[in-house]
Amino acid sequence: ELGDFEHYMLKEIFEQPQTIENAMRGRFDEDEATAKFGGLNLTPQQLRRVDRIVLTACGTSWHAGLVGEYLLEEFARIPVEVEYASELRYRNPPLTDRTMVFAITQSGETADTLAAMRECKRKGLSTLAICNVVGSSIAREADGGIYLHAGPEIGVASTKAFTSQVTALVMLSLFLGRMRHLSYQAGKRIIRSLKAMPETIAKTLECHDQVQEVASRYWNLENFLYLGRLYNFPVALEGALKLKEISYIHAEGYPAAEMKHGPIALIEERTPSVFIVPRGGIYPKVISNMEEVRARKGPIIAIACEDDEKVAELADEVICVPEVEEHLQPLVTSIPLQLLAYHVALLRGCNVDRPRNLAKSVTVE
Ligand code: F6R
Repeated sequence: ELGDFEHYMLKEIFEQPQTIENAMRGRFDEDEATAKFGGLNLTPQQLRRVDRIVLTACGTSWHAGLVGEYLLEEFARIPVEVEYASELRYRNPPLTDRTMVFAITQSGETADTLAAMRECKRKGLSTLAICNVVGSSIAREADGGIYLHAGPEIGVASTKAFTSQVTALVMLSLFLGRMRHLSYQAGKRIIRSLKAMPETIAKTLECHDQVQEVASRYWNLENFLYLGRLYNFPVALEGALKLKEISYIHAEGYPAAEMKHGPIALIEERTPSVFIVPRGGIYPKVISNMEEVRARKGPIIAIACEDDEKVAELADEVICVPEVEEHLQPLVTSIPLQLLAYHVALLRGCNVDRPRNLAKSVTVE
């Protein structure tokens, strides 16, 4: 089953051009410049009434939810909250019959996510799932939802499920956006760049050798910061989580500008910062955050677009990714971070597919 790969994690990272394609298959309505889903089980009238969305999940799936918040608010203009399932299940936030809840989960068996979903259902809310495992508890109990079709994910560290979740959330934003403010032309543009994504991801994977080299220079350090802004802030959190869980290195993700409110105290010669800094958005602001780190002698590993001279000047290492529209950047920028965690863990002699203390699905509270 592993084919040419040494570990499931690496195999699953390299499956991403295909898994993203699978997440999109049959889900475009070209004439209407929108997405379509077979299983939401809600009428257009019901969907049009939604005035708030709650995304609930744990771990990596929660990070995908954060990307979803930015996407849904930008394209559908619906207020979104992203809740840790373990918190939501015991909280009592004011929700109305116009709130739509999505549980995001690879396994469909995470105990906290299931409990949060049941709590929302009990309150009579429309509760849907964005789920990978067909027929899992969450998929069965949800009122409807979106399957990821990513195939089994064996590596404990979630990789392809994350990019599939983000893909599903882009499509959901397109769909809900087209019911509201998003123009035909804007819808077309999103579809065009989504359709190019499998190829773009294949190109992104060409950074593998570069990442491996970077890993060989940094694997023996004990603290890392991951910094990004806007769509790349959740990517920073996800990159840090990947490194923590499989290499047991302490890593923290932050919105890059928050650094000066505390974490900057950690910067020194043995604490590298991984900056996610593709062009677009508030790129110049991220550059000035890099300058702040550089001034304090912190090593910088940058995930950036090709031929970025500004970044090359400031960073010690540059890992290049293809340039894509801002809202699709997480699909691209998360990939070198998955590979970085993989190679660092490997060099440290860790069991990348089965890290200590972790289980693939967390079925206890
Ligand atoms: C991280 C990881 C976990 C899961 C979390 C939720 O790599 O795998 O953080 O993302 O346990 O799992 P699911 O998505 O199955 O609900």
